Amino acid sequence: MSLLRIDSSIRTQGSVSREVLDSLERSYLESDPGAQVVRRDLGLDPIAPTTWAAAVAAGMTPEDERTAEQREAVATAAALADELAAATAVVIGSPLYNFGIAAHLKSWVDLLITDARFAPGSTPLAGTPVVLVVSRGGGYGPGTPREGWDHATGWITRILRDVWGADVTVVEAELTLAEVVPAMAELRPLAAQKRAEAHEAAAKLGVALRAS
Ligand SMILES: Cc1cc2nc3c(=O)[nH]c(=O)nc-3n(C[C@H](O)[C@H](O)[C@H](O)COP(=O)(O)O)c2cc1C
Repeated sequence: MSLLRIDSSIRTQGSVSREVLDSLERSYLESDPGAQVVRRDLGLDPIAPTTWAAAVAAGMTPEDERTAEQREAVATAAALADELAAATAVVIGSPLYNFGIAAHLKSWVDLLITDARFAPGSTPLAGTPVVLVVSRGGGYGPGTPREGWDHATGWITRILRDVWGADVTVVEAELTLAEVVPAMAELRPLAAQKRAEAHEAAAKLGVALRAS
């Protein structure tokens, strides 16, 4: 049993996605403190977009003609693919930035897709449970002015579920900016409720992942 935890928030202090993943990880480890959790922190240790470009170029270059940079990029993609394929469960923190996916998370996905195992057409995560923890500063629910503006969650879910075949559960914490944006002050009770619900859902999922 091995849980792969992927963080992609660019902050460590006050990061809601990290805190919700902490709740999940705590409950995952509670029944068996010796269980293995592998961490990849894309927020603190990002993959350079140039690595992806080099891996794509390598795919169009005969092996014996590849540059050192291209060979290194292919090796990095393979290491990421090994890590993800070895996980029995995966949890991912996905903050909303500029109405889209965190660039660091996009770079991780892009590089993985250069590895044949994660290219479209194969389903390398079939049967693997993946919990996606989404954190958003605003509110995007049905009927809200920004409904449909979250262009991150649909995309990453599409990759995980429909391209890679994972069994995806989404946990959403939104209105996270209510605490610090004065214009959102009246939304603070709702924001607190949503955050508590996200922690509760994450803790339950931690137990479920141990049992799966
Ligand atoms: C550079 C930047 C861009 C952001 N863009 C958006 C946005 O487009 N929509 C939104 O609702 N919140 C936005 N936010 C707020 C984050 O989604 C929110 O703070 C979320 O909680 C971040 O995840 P974290 O708490 O795990 O760091 C942005 C925050 C930053 C730092």
